[in-house]
Amino acid sequence: MTVTARVLVDPSFSLGEIDPRIYGSFVEHMGRCVYDGIYDPEHETADEDGFRQDVAELVRELGPTILRYPGGNFVSGYRWEDGVGPREDRPVRRELAWKSIEPNLVGTNEFMRYCQRLGIEPMMAVNLGTRGIEAATALVEYTTLAGGTYWSDLRRAHGVEDPWDVRVWCLGNEMDGPWQLGHKTAYEYGRLAAETAVALRRVNPNLELVACGTSKPIMPTFGSWEAEVLEQSYAHVDYLSMHMYVDPDLTDDVPTLLAAGVEIDAYIDAVIASADFARARGRHSKVMPLSFDEWNVWYNSRPREIGEWPFAPDLIGDIYSFADALVVGSFINSILRRSDRVRMACLAQLVNVIAPIRTEPGGGAAWRQSTFYPFALASRFGRGESLRVGLTSARHDTSRHEDVPALDVAAVHDPETGAVTFFVVNRDVEHAVPLELATGGFAGFAGGASVEHTTLTGPSASATNSAAAPDTIAPRTAPAVPWEGAPVVVPPMSWNMIRLVPGTGTHI
Ligand code: AHR
Repeated sequence: MTVTARVLVDPSFSLGEIDPRIYGSFVEHMGRCVYDGIYDPEHETADEDGFRQDVAELVRELGPTILRYPGGNFVSGYRWEDGVGPREDRPVRRELAWKSIEPNLVGTNEFMRYCQRLGIEPMMAVNLGTRGIEAATALVEYTTLAGGTYWSDLRRAHGVEDPWDVRVWCLGNEMDGPWQLGHKTAYEYGRLAAETAVALRRVNPNLELVACGTSKPIMPTFGSWEAEVLEQSYAHVDYLSMHMYVDPDLTDDVPTLLAAGVEIDAYIDAVIASADFARARGRHSKVMPLSFDEWNVWYNSRPREIGEWPFAPDLIGDIYSFADALVVGSFINSILRRSDRVRMACLAQLVNVIAPIRTEPGGGAAWRQSTFYPFALASRFGRGESLRVGLTSARHDTSRHEDVPALDVAAVHDPETGAVTFFVVNRDVEHAVPLELATGGFAGFAGGASVEHTTLTGPSASATNSAAAPDTIAPRTAPAVPWEGAPVVVPPMSWNMIRLVPGTGTHI
C-alpha cells in the first residue's frame, strides 16, 4: 500500500543561515588527485600553471565553496618549502603517508592561484605530525603576510607579490589515528594544537583554526579524544573537525546502505555532545562549531595493490554506484539539518581519489560520477537558511536499523527568492512515495507558486557512470508547473530536489 508522507516547514523553524562553506571539497597530494587529475601540463587544455581547464570546468559546475589542501594524511609528512620557488629546484621525495613519489610540481602558490581563478576559498592544513610550530608559523608568514619579513619576502622573491587571503587553517590531520605520521595522544595533540594556535595568531590574528576531532565514529578514543583535546585547546581554536566515510562493502544490502543517514545524524549529534561536554567542563561561553572536513562513500575495505613508491598511482579511485549517490545525498541532508553547528564540510576528495570527478589515466576524458549530482545541485540551490522539518513518513527496519523513515528530508529557504527547496532521498527501494508539502507560515506562496522537481534515478542500485557511458546516471528536471498543493511523487530509491517558488515559470 502506498502511504503518503508529509513534510511541514515554517519560518519559525529556521536553524539560521547556512554557511556556504558546508559545500567544500578536498585536494590531497594523493593518488591521481593532483597529478593526472587537476594538474597535467601536457594536457591540451592546461593553463600556464599546468591545470587542466576541462577538469576546472567540471569543478566550477560541482560548485565547491572551499578546498582543503594539501592533505589529509599527506600533510603529516609534508615539507611545504619543497613546493615553492622555481619548479626546477624543487626536490623529488618519497611521500611517506601513501608510499608514493612526490615531485612537488604543485605547491602552495599554484594551489592558491587555482582557487583564485575558480573563485574558491582555500583551506590549508599544517603538518603537526613530523613537524610543528616553527614550520607552521613560517608557512602562515610566507602565505599571508604582505612583506618585510624573511618568509613573506621569500614569497615575493618567488614572484607572488601580494599575500594570499587564507583564513582557515587545520591544525594537523587525524592526529588520533595510529596510521598518522607523528600520531599523538589526545593530551599531546591538545597541547600542541593550543600552542600552535597561539603562535599562528601572533603571526596573523585573522585566522580561523580547526582542531582535529575524531577521524571516524568507530575510533576507540572517540569522545574522550574530543574531551581531552578541547580541555587543552578550547579557548584557542575556532572549530572542531570530524571525519566519516561510509563503506558500502560493509553493509549487508542496499536498504541498510541507504539508511546511512541515520548513522550520520547520530554521529553529528555525538560530536556536538562531545564538544558541549568540553564546553561545560571548561566553563566556556563560546559554542564550538564543527568542521566536517572529510566525508564521503569510500570502499575502504577493498585491498589496495599499488606497490611501493609509484608516481600518481590510481589509489582509492572508487567508481561510485547509483546507491552511493543517494548516500552522498543523505550526508548533505544530515549536514543541512545540523547546519547550525556544522559550519564547514568537505566532500573528500575532488578528483579521481574517492571523487565526484574522474579523469581517465594519462590525460583521457574527464567525467562526472553519480555522486557529482546531489552535491552540485545542493551547492547551487541549498543556500539561505536551513529549516527544521516536521516529517511524517512510513518507516521500515533494515538488517541494522529499526524504524527508519522511508524519506530522508532537508529543507532550505532562500530569503532572496522566497523559494523553499526540499532535498529528499527515498530510501524505499520498491515504492514511490507521494509527499505532501506543507509550507506553514510561509506567506510567499499564497499568491500562487510553481513547483519544480529534479530527480536522480538509476537503472539499478549498482549502475555507474564511466568515460564510455558518462550519462547513465544524470538528473532530470521536469518543467515547472503551477503548484496546487497536490503531493509530489518521489520515485523508489531516488534523490530528489523539489523547489517551491513564489510565482510561476522555469527556475533551473
Ligand atoms: O581522504 C583520504 C584519507 O582519508 C585522508 O588522507 C585521511 O585524512 C583520511 O583517513
